[in-house]
Amino acid sequence: MEDNMSLEIKNICCIGAGYVGGPTMAVIANKCPSIKVTVVDINERKIANWNSNDLTKLPVFEPGLDLIIENCRNKNLFFSTNLQDAIANADMIFISVNTPTKTRGVGAGKASDLKWVEESARKVVKYAKGKTIVVEKSTIPVRTAEAIKLILDTSNKSDEYKQEFSVLSNPEFLSEGNAIRDLEKPDRVLIGGDDKKSVKSLVDIYKRWVSPEKILCTNIWSSELSKLAANAFLAQKISSINAISGLCEKSGANIKEVAKAIGMDSRIGSQFLNAGPGFGGSCFKKDILNLIYLSEFYKLPEVAEYWEKVLEINNWQQNRIIEKIVSTLFGTLSGKKITILGFSFKANTNDTRESPSIKICKDLLREGANLSIYDPKVDSEQIERELNSKNLENLSKEINGSWEFNRSIYDAVEDSLGIVVLTEWDEFKSINWNKVSKLSNDPIWLFDTRNICNVNEASRNNIMVWSIGL
Ligand code: NAD
Ligand code: UGA
Repeated sequence: MEDNMSLEIKNICCIGAGYVGGPTMAVIANKCPSIKVTVVDINERKIANWNSNDLTKLPVFEPGLDLIIENCRNKNLFFSTNLQDAIANADMIFISVNTPTKTRGVGAGKASDLKWVEESARKVVKYAKGKTIVVEKSTIPVRTAEAIKLILDTSNKSDEYKQEFSVLSNPEFLSEGNAIRDLEKPDRVLIGGDDKKSVKSLVDIYKRWVSPEKILCTNIWSSELSKLAANAFLAQKISSINAISGLCEKSGANIKEVAKAIGMDSRIGSQFLNAGPGFGGSCFKKDILNLIYLSEFYKLPEVAEYWEKVLEINNWQQNRIIEKIVSTLFGTLSGKKITILGFSFKANTNDTRESPSIKICKDLLREGANLSIYDPKVDSEQIERELNSKNLENLSKEINGSWEFNRSIYDAVEDSLGIVVLTEWDEFKSINWNKVSKLSNDPIWLFDTRNICNVNEASRNNIMVWSIGL
């Protein structure tokens, strides 16, 4: 049924069953039982895992996601590799594919690679029928909607299928590990677009569980730029606190006290003031690089340089942690066993993209360390892929160290000389330091890069401690 103001959405298709597409569509399906939601992907293994009866095999680990999948899957939520049918049946199509930094060609190293977005748009033109609202969910550079519109409008549209397209921007602000909470209770939902009827159709979906004052409608370019700007502001806050953490270590100030003091100013806010090993994740770095590229493209070099500094501080923070570990352990790690606790880029996710652990582990391996790595949600194959250890072995002249995967904290720490906490998993907050000290004959150093360990308890058990910003 179509009223004057909106098109009633009965079938949604989402192209891309990743960290955004999977959880986002699961929540839409859960909140809108009358809408059939089909999530499609070219990756057959991923779709098989989304369909697995064993919910521990879901490709994305997010607290609460398994319950929603159990509730909706094969009722009004479907995972499939059949793009053609899902697109043909959809009134609304979300494009939620990856948009990594380009590795070659114009803008390499900075601009986003829109290959997958473009491919998706071409599939939409090929298979869509009737009026279809296309929603950009992926994070993309400003004015990408224009490119999508161009593809949709200029490709050989099918007369038989009476194709008609409208493009909206609806960036996603969920953060991993909190995705379900963020999707169910978002700070805001942002919808950019000029076609009022299509905008209202999307607003009507979100209105089923989000209060209207939190649904913000803007022009399409504001929506696209707001997503990049929000990530850049969040990352900038982390680089700011990390910069101050270095100053704390030199001056005798305590980063936790400083963060608390400045965070109590409501204009600054208390969130995102945890000093750490630098931000990771698939988006902050790529989105800032994209912002830098856009600033250079629009001939705003000062703006580009400003955002570059946020990335520079992030690298600096990781480098100084590595230097601290090496210098504390007498300037050499050759043949020394070091335990790495945490490999995901943050707690409560199995995602390791751009995790600080990758660079830190690689550099420790270059120093000749023998790493034993433990993470509650990341397996050995994933670590292998990230460290690219097959390649590292080929470069054995450069890489002297080795690594092994452990299934528990206590297996990992046995006979270690150093323990480096890199992810803020809850279980690292309650490590039994007495047990740890008994598992090693030598003096042990704890490097707590997240300030989460019970360092008093560690010290009481003769473990020497270095904490970030203290
Ligand atoms: P992801 O890599 O986890 O998932 C993307 C999926 O798209 C992959 O499974 C891939 O196989 C699939 N895909 C690529 N091309 C396809 C095609 N032509 N047809 C069908 N499937 C295709 O990526 P993600 O983390 O979900 O991120 C997706 C987008 O959302 C990115 O633009 C990202 O910047 C943005 N974003 C991510 C997060 C996050 O927390 N990960 C949060 C907000 C926004
Ligand atoms: C981030 C944003 O928070 C989301 O709003 C956004 O949608 C998403 O990026 C995206 O576009 O991909 P995410 O990367 O999942 O979400 O996680 P964050 O909680 O933002 O953490 C990012 C990194 O910063 C992590 O490595 C985390 O450990 C680090 N961090 C975060 C700190 O070091 N200190 C803090 O105080 C907060």
